[in-house]
Parts: sequence; structure tokens; C-alpha cells
Amino acid sequence: MELKWMVILSTMALLLAAPVHGDEESEAKLIVKKVKGKKLCDQGWECKGFSEYCCNHTISDYFQTYQFENLFSKRNTPVAHAVGFWDYHSFITAAALYQPHGFGTTGEKLTGMKEVAAFLGHVGSKTSCGYGVATGGPLAWGLCYNKEMSPSQTYCDDDFKYTYPCTPGVSYHGRGALPIYWNYNYGKTGEALKVDLLNHPEYLENNATLAFQAAVWRWMTPVKKNLPSAHDVFVGNWKPTKNDTLAKRIPGFGTTMNALYGDQVCGKDDDESMNNMVSHYLYYLDLMGVGREEAGPHEVLNCSEQEAFDLSSARSSMSSSSSAS
Ligand SMILES: *[C@@H]1O[C@H](CO)[C@@H](O)[C@H](O)[C@H]1NC(C)=O
Ligand SMILES: *[C@@H]1O[C@H](CO)[C@@H](O)[C@H](O)[C@H]1NC(C)=O
Ligand SMILES: *[C@@H]1O[C@H](CO)[C@@H](O)[C@H](O)[C@H]1NC(C)=O
Ligand SMILES: *[C@@H]1O[C@H](CO)[C@@H](O)[C@H](O)[C@H]1NC(C)=O
Repeated sequence: MELKWMVILSTMALLLAAPVHGDEESEAKLIVKKVKGKKLCDQGWECKGFSEYCCNHTISDYFQTYQFENLFSKRNTPVAHAVGFWDYHSFITAAALYQPHGFGTTGEKLTGMKEVAAFLGHVGSKTSCGYGVATGGPLAWGLCYNKEMSPSQTYCDDDFKYTYPCTPGVSYHGRGALPIYWNYNYGKTGEALKVDLLNHPEYLENNATLAFQAAVWRWMTPVKKNLPSAHDVFVGNWKPTKNDTLAKRIPGFGTTMNALYGDQVCGKDDDESMNNMVSHYLYYLDLMGVGREEAGPHEVLNCSEQEAFDLSSARSSMSSSSSAS
């Protein structure tokens, strides 16, 4: 008798509590304050630390689990190479660290959606195992890999033996969501993320949140001093100089490839890797409900006619003689 009442009462308590809790999550999480006339906000775990970027939408407002599943629908099929590794939760946890800095939160919601599609377009093309006859089409196979499968070398560059010395027995082959190669790139990324990647590059293939974090950091950070980040060229923070205009570098997806890869993919007509990134971006725009017509004309979308940024002395973290596949 007593037990029965307890069950009924606690069920009622749950029913009463549920909608209140729902409200709390959607409404009460926004805290606003004014500092010197500027509106700054905090939205809890996803957009912390009072930033102007936290006053608008956050990524989870327009990009949810089912959309992640749609974009990367084949990643957990038995023939994929990182089954069970990548998930929405790791992406959104990593993205949360950069949303206060404008990742997915700059400008209107549409700009945010396009930026997420663009970032994931880079990621999808670098981690795809799709090929011509793959079921679901070649673009459905993003996040199939989390590391280079048969590295032919350990990517140890002795020029950096004083700054980023290779750890004996460790291999610096491609790992991650925007794969990192070479000791100096593991070293630099590890420094920025405060994780000892030089001694433990394998962290990137064991921790999907860290893998996404390293990729978003790369997206948000210029590869070289005085050059823009992919984020800056995409959302329009970057204003082209006269030289940029002469070099046909304009804000948009094409220049994100230039900012990350320079002459590895830009300034050549019909580079396969460039076309692959563009195709993934357009495919994700469609799946997210934005529509590829929002991507703009060819000059904005690709970088085949752009002069490449000079990334030489920086050595892009993507430099490799082979891809992650
Ligand atoms: C917030 O949203 C408005 C309207 O969509 C936009 O104009 C503004 O730039 C956004 N704020 C930031 C910091 O991006
Ligand atoms: C994975 O990486 C994230 C982000 O750097 C970190 O917060 C988390 O503690 C790591 N998880 C494990 C199990 O090491
Ligand atoms: C613009 O390009 C010219 C010729 O390539 C170069 O000499 C000059 O330093 C560049 N200016 C800037 C600001 O990058
Ligand atoms: C890339 O853009 C140029 C215009 O800048 C266009 O002529 C060319 O067809 C585009 N290439 C591809 C592969 O879409």
C-alpha cells in the first residue's frame, strides 16, 4: 500500500518536473550583461564566458544529432574504419570551446549554418572512404577514418629536433578530423591545446572530442602570422587587401581552402582534392536544409583561379605526401 503510493507520487513528481526542466534548458540559460555599452552573454556549457557571440543562436539551435547522423550516415557501417568513434556529442563538446570566439555563432543563423557545413565539408572530404561505386554515393562516407591506415613513414622531420623532437618509437602519421601529420604539427597543436601530442599523438585517434577540438582550432587559427584563418575568410572578418583582390582571393569557401592548404590545392585548374571539398560542402548544405544555391558562384566556391597564399615557411598542418586514406 505504502509502496504503491510512493510510486504514484514519484511518477506525478516526474510529470510535473519534466516541462519545468525543459523550460530551464531552453529559456533560462541565457545570461546577459552590458560592459561599456556592449552586450555580452553566456549560455551555459555551449557558449561560456560572456562574449558577444553568445548572445545569438548557438550551434545546437540549428544543428542537432539527427543532422549529424544524416551527414555522416555511413560512418558506422561494418566496412568503415573508425566504427563507433565519431559522434555528435564529441563534435558539439569540442565546438562549444570555440563558439564564444564566433565558431558557428557569427552573424545571422544562416551564416552559422553555412560555417558548420563548410567546416564539416573539409572534415568529411579528409576522412572519407567513399569511392565511385560506394552505396549511398561517394559523399555519404565522411568520418569513415580517424587515422591514416597504412603510413609509409613516421613523418619525423629532424629540422625540428630542438623545438619539436620526435619521441622514439612514435609515429606522426595522419590522425584526426582534419588530419595532422609531422612532429612539428603535433607539437604546435599540442601546445595550443595544452595536450602532450608530441609524446602522445595517439590521443587523437583515441578521443573524438580532442580530434574535433584540434580540427576546430585549426579552422579558427591562421596557419601563419599575417594570414587569415579559414574562419575569418569564411564569415567575412577578413577584408581582402589590394593584393588579395589582384590574386582573386575573396571571402568564401574557396579561400578557406587557400588559407589551410595554399598551393597544394589552389591555383591549379581542377584539383581533385579541391573539388572533393567543394562537393562535400554543397552536399552538407543540402542535407542541412540550407541548400547549395546559398553557396554562391564558382569564384566564391573554389580556388582554382586564386593565387595561393604563401604558407611555405609555416608548413601547413595538412602537409603530407599521402592523404588519410
Ligand atoms: C547576432 O545576430 C544579428 C542578427 O541576426 C546579427 O546581425 C549580428 O551580427 C549577430 N551578432 C554577432 C556577434 O555575430
Ligand atoms: C578527450 O579530450 C577532451 C578535450 O580535450 C578532454 O576534455 C577529455 O578529458 C578527454 N577524454 C579523455 C578520456 O582523455
Ligand atoms: C603585394 O604584392 C607585391 C608583389 O607580389 C609585393 O611585393 C608586396 O609586398 C605585396 N604587398 C603586401 C602588403 O603584401
Ligand atoms: C572554379 O571557378 C571558376 C571561376 O573562378 C570556374 O570557371 C571553374 O569552372 C570552377 N571550377 C570548378 C571545378 O568548379
